[in-house]
Amino acid sequence: MSREVKVVLLGTTGVGKSSLVLRYVTSQFHPHSESTIGAAFMSKMTLMKLKCKDGDGQDTSKIVKFQIWDTAGQEKYATLAPMYYRSSDAAAIVYDVTNAASYGKVKEWVAEVRENAERHCVVVVVGNKVDLLGGGGGERAVAKEEVESYVRSIGGIYIEASAKDKIGVGDIFQRIVEELPGI
Ligand code: GTP
Ligand code: MG
Repeated sequence: MSREVKVVLLGTTGVGKSSLVLRYVTSQFHPHSESTIGAAFMSKMTLMKLKCKDGDGQDTSKIVKFQIWDTAGQEKYATLAPMYYRSSDAAAIVYDVTNAASYGKVKEWVAEVRENAERHCVVVVVGNKVDLLGGGGGERAVAKEEVESYVRSIGGIYIEASAKDKIGVGDIFQRIVEELPGI
């Protein structure tokens, strides 16, 4: 039996939401990705390993159909977001690890999702573009420890990722499945 899991991506413009979805669903990366208008939808059916073991102590797995809503980060589309996160199983709230303002926006999205989404909605904060750190031409804008302790305080999950270098992208979806109640 398969299970549908609805995931919404939130975060300000340019942080790499569409790039993460594209990397996850099609294994591609476009260096000049176009800014999303309104929202975009993609789905992916995949076999996911579950946390629980079966009676013989073996790993169990389940077919999951991810329904992924990639929202537009430009301010003018902000009012559309509730339509997508309201009935979501998980919200991936993305920032760019080299951009402090984009991290500021994470806190606004967390507050909004916690207030208006379903109570069981899993919150994953994603620090994207880690390829830019350490010789990649960028500097970390917010200390990792600070982000980790904030995310812990809101009962979320923190994952660092690079859509460009294929780091952490599958982990976002793996962790969502592991945290979902009753899967
Ligand atoms: P909106 O649709 O406007 O909300 O933006 P978005 O969050 O969907 O960003 P998008 O995926 O369009 O990426 C913006 C820019 O960042 C593009 O030029 C991407 O190629 C680039 N980008 C995305 N992910 C990464 C990454 O992991 N590393 C690097 N270096 N660049 C990235
Ligand atoms: Mg986009």
